[in-house]
Amino acid sequence: MKGIILAGGLGTRLYPITRVINKHVLPIGNKPIIYYPIQTLLNSGIRELGIVTGPPHGDQIKDIVNYYPSRNKLEITFINQPAPLGMSEAIGRCEGFANSEPIIVVTGDNIFGSNFRKEVQTFLGGATAFLRKAKDPHRHGVPVYDNNGHLERIIEKPTKPTGNWVVTCPYLFDTQVFKLINKLEPSEHGELEITDLLSQYIQNNNLKLTKRDDFWLDVGTFDSFFEATQRFTA
Ligand code: DAU
Repeated sequence: MKGIILAGGLGTRLYPITRVINKHVLPIGNKPIIYYPIQTLLNSGIRELGIVTGPPHGDQIKDIVNYYPSRNKLEITFINQPAPLGMSEAIGRCEGFANSEPIIVVTGDNIFGSNFRKEVQTFLGGATAFLRKAKDPHRHGVPVYDNNGHLERIIEKPTKPTGNWVVTCPYLFDTQVFKLINKLEPSEHGELEITDLLSQYIQNNNLKLTKRDDFWLDVGTFDSFFEATQRFTA
């Protein structure tokens, strides 16, 4: 299995900082944000890693990754996403890198308290994602169930979430993923959403959602950035 870190996008929720600095190189504790998901993938047994970056400051990621302490344990490929057209669009750009292997995808701004070695080793196909409790479900993908309790689809950032459980990364995908991305239409935000990709797997009865209660933080806003900084600055 190959690893992919999504580190494109503009980081608009951290403006004006991210107008001049890429979000993923900002420090949490004594290291840049992107070192955390790199370490998680390394600890999960991944050795071949693709990192998606894009303008205007994607080159800062390439620079800082070179100083990652265990850089020599990883074979890293950088993949350019010219415009922030969504997480699924970014994954679609990794088809050549994946080269017919399954993939584990994490966002470059998520910090995890544990690794996913077991899930990588026991992956049998389809897609896997993780359910976590969030205090701000309207910021995430939220599962929707029918009257019989069957998972119907996942909605991106609903204004009225139906619960506190949200669908988060990592996302493990089999080799069907690129064919399914080609079927997606842009959302009202003009993006190919990760939730629509997961909903394709639901339609094929092929999505596994695993509940986790370990530490997890999505560092995309000033509030979560401060929370992470407090936790990792001893
Ligand atoms: O895992 C938590 C949440 O992550 C999920 O619950 C949501 O369904 C999912 O959409 C995502 O929400 P975010 O609001 O955190 O997504 P954000 O736009 O911050 O993008 C997450 C990462 O993906 C970020 O580090 C940059 C990267 N990205 C984003 C876009 C839009 C790309 O590489 N390319 C892109 O086009």
